[in-house]
Amino acid sequence: MATHIWPIDAIQPEMKLLKQAADLLRLGGLVAIPTETVYGLAAHALQPEAVLRIFEAKGRPATNPLIVHVIDQAAARPLVQDWPAIAETLAKQFWPGPLTFILPRSSMVPDVVTGGGPTVALRCPAHPVIHGLLRACGFPLAAPSANRSTRISPTRAEHVVKDLDDRIDAILDAGPCPYGLESTIVDLTCTPVRILRPGPIGAEALKPWIPVAPMAKHGPTLSVPRTPLRSPGMMPRHYAPQTPLIFISDAPTNWSKILEDVQRGRRIGILAMGSETTYPKLPNLIIESMPMEAPRYAACLYDCLHHLDAAGLDLICVESPPQTEEWRAVHDRLSRAAATEIPGQT
Ligand code: TXA
Ligand code: MG
Repeated sequence: MATHIWPIDAIQPEMKLLKQAADLLRLGGLVAIPTETVYGLAAHALQPEAVLRIFEAKGRPATNPLIVHVIDQAAARPLVQDWPAIAETLAKQFWPGPLTFILPRSSMVPDVVTGGGPTVALRCPAHPVIHGLLRACGFPLAAPSANRSTRISPTRAEHVVKDLDDRIDAILDAGPCPYGLESTIVDLTCTPVRILRPGPIGAEALKPWIPVAPMAKHGPTLSVPRTPLRSPGMMPRHYAPQTPLIFISDAPTNWSKILEDVQRGRRIGILAMGSETTYPKLPNLIIESMPMEAPRYAACLYDCLHHLDAAGLDLICVESPPQTEEWRAVHDRLSRAAATEIPGQT
């Protein structure tokens, strides 16, 4: 199947293109779409056969549930058993935006969407393209990130093409996604609510509105039980480039060995904090200078990882960003991308 690529305006998306995409989705098609976080791979959420095609295209395990995207609160309510006061409060404050709620599902949501589980993930996205598309559709859209399962999420249409060309019907190309990291996921089925995936909306932003259970002080929630998974995609190795990735701070004893390897011709990429850091200027050492502010770093992280991954490197080394709350989502994704062992160094 040839994948159509439709350039579309990110701020005032052309109605004709939105209608075209909505028609395709109504007929059970798969369309990759920009959101304010990452590109999503959308299907009609209430058509099980269409949703099944998402799992096939991504190579995603059927047990890993999808986020359902809705135009507003009113569209969310029929998909859940009950719309609690905390959902009302958070939706009022943060929707449309990068915040996903987990709530007990209603019978309207097909099993294939929730992986057979009792809850559903709901998000009302802010990006004008998916927002306009939801309006043109008049039905909810199931959409995971538009990448092959376990690979890096796409923040540009080119990344989607690389992973899913010829496996999906169309891509709406509106350029880069502003946040660059996936939405914050909050589990509203427990009290206090729990953040299952850190994202653009941090615990500090949520706390004035609702009590939030504390997360581990540093790093990602790696100690996820194997079965049943609270958030199945929250496996330690996820969002990963194909090139092995390590934190430089985790490998102090290996670092001089790595530099020796570079001298011998091994190809290594560095994700450096800022541009001040000095590394030897060698053709086989590729340095990406990353922004020093968390939101700007987040916005370009996946693009840099895609870039380094395409460069045919032996290893990607990451300078660890600060261990502060505003960097939590970045740390979470970097840790998931990290390899557990250094090839040739074990
Ligand atoms: O920003 C985002 O959230 C993007 C855009 C496209 O909206 N979507 C996204 O979807 O990141 P995905 O499928 O790549 O990640 C969703 C995560 C997965 O880890 C999945 O396991 C979890 O949400 N999830 C989905 N439904 C769930 C549920 N009912 N309970 C717990 N976790 C759930
Ligand atoms: Mg994903």
